[in-house]
Amino acid sequence: MEFSIKSTRPEKQKSGCIVVGIFESRRLTDAAESLDEASGAHISGILKRGDMEGRAGTTLLLHQVPGIAAERVLLVGLGKEAEFNEKTYIDAVHAAMNALKNTGAKDAALFLADIGRRDMEWNIFHAVTAAMESQYCFDRMKSKPEKKRDALRKLVLHAAGDAALAERAMKQGIAVAGGVKFAKDLGNLPGNVCTPTYLAEQAVELAKEYKLESRILEEKEMKALGMGALLSVTRGSVEAPRLIVLEYQGTSKHKKPIVLVGKGITFDSGGISLKPGADMDEMKYDMCGAASVLGAIKSAAEMKLKLNIVAIVPSCENMPSGNATKPGDIVTSMSGQTIEVLNTDAEGRLILCDALTYAEKFEPETVIDVATLTGACVIALGHVASGLYSNDDGLAGELMEAGGNSIDRAWHMPLWDDYQDQLKSNFADMANIGGRPAGSVTAACFLAKFTKNYRWAHLDVAGTAHRSGKQKGSTGRPVPLLCRFLIERSTRA
Ligand code: BES
Ligand code: MN
Ligand code: ZN
Repeated sequence: MEFSIKSTRPEKQKSGCIVVGIFESRRLTDAAESLDEASGAHISGILKRGDMEGRAGTTLLLHQVPGIAAERVLLVGLGKEAEFNEKTYIDAVHAAMNALKNTGAKDAALFLADIGRRDMEWNIFHAVTAAMESQYCFDRMKSKPEKKRDALRKLVLHAAGDAALAERAMKQGIAVAGGVKFAKDLGNLPGNVCTPTYLAEQAVELAKEYKLESRILEEKEMKALGMGALLSVTRGSVEAPRLIVLEYQGTSKHKKPIVLVGKGITFDSGGISLKPGADMDEMKYDMCGAASVLGAIKSAAEMKLKLNIVAIVPSCENMPSGNATKPGDIVTSMSGQTIEVLNTDAEGRLILCDALTYAEKFEPETVIDVATLTGACVIALGHVASGLYSNDDGLAGELMEAGGNSIDRAWHMPLWDDYQDQLKSNFADMANIGGRPAGSVTAACFLAKFTKNYRWAHLDVAGTAHRSGKQKGSTGRPVPLLCRFLIERSTRA
């Protein structure tokens, strides 16, 4: 879809459909008011007859409105003005986009940027990302693509005020939506297609497109580096593991990079500690952390952010087999610390700990890892917030703010030393599980043992990276959060 910014008056805008908001009960927004005046009270007349109240999520399509240049007018309900917030704004864009799908309009113009409590730039950015979201469809694995009406090709976003700021917000929205789509596509692919080798190939493609540095490490290089924890996870699988490294240089090479590390388990069966069968298919999403850091570096490169960024993705399968790692096995991580693998299903932390040690070689400014790490995080925070852990409260604050701004929220969880006791092992330096209590916290505490040499944050996205049930699919989270964080960092002195 093509986006553009305009500041024409609504009644003068030529378009397949123009979209204006109506608050409950039947209160016209400024743009709707202009249309009403130009049409000789046509719109208020319809509202008075009771065809629309303005309730959130409702829409009403009007044809041949007199005195108006556009072919159609779509009224979109915004709910009660006093209750209008970020979510209702985004929902209104979704409602409008869904209603447009059922019309013949090939292009449309949104007049929604001047409503709500956020500024015009926020509204423009989120109109773009919400519009892209509602157009998303994953049908690559169907033998015939589903029959769809001709989709909307052009969306004009109306914004009064500084056109350059509006333009920038739109471009950022397009870049972030592109990263989200990239992450969703990788997440939705099945495990037999999206293998570690495939992930690495996609990363190399990305590197070519955006002129990034890329390096793909294979098993023998992992051995040479002493990545015994990572290698213990891949042992049971016939798929070859990969460690993917992408580097984006957006500023002086002397500036320390932000390193993003993403869990890339392309299928998590649990290994010898095999998972129960129900919904095991969803463990193809266990590489969503990886997909999100690749998506974020893509968006950052697209925006040409003045930052240096490194993406590191340890990737393998977690499978049972005769030579798989067994409960009780003890492995030596790249850091030299030994780990007793009490449960082979706690594999994410094993691949991440070696990737986090490897990250030191980039002398990072900050390291952020993203992982579908624990079912316990889903129990704690559900599908709304990602779990956020950090050894630096300032960094945690920045990420919390980025989450709030992008409506891709995270919640700051404790990383106190008091929890470390749960990881004690009788035989090795640590165990890879900490028991049932605070499972998401002890997973983060495990990672913290490998991140002492730099500023670090961890996002547990087990509940937020994908949806189950009827809406099963990857969400692309936390690409919006990461991008907002990177945008803010790139403008910081
Ligand atoms: N990939 C899973 C975590 C997960 C669970 C992600 C549900 C998404 C939805 C992870 O590797 C795992 O299996 N974790 C175990 C850890 C336990 C053995 C300590 C878990 O959460 O049960
Ligand atoms: Mn697991
Ligand atoms: Zn896993």
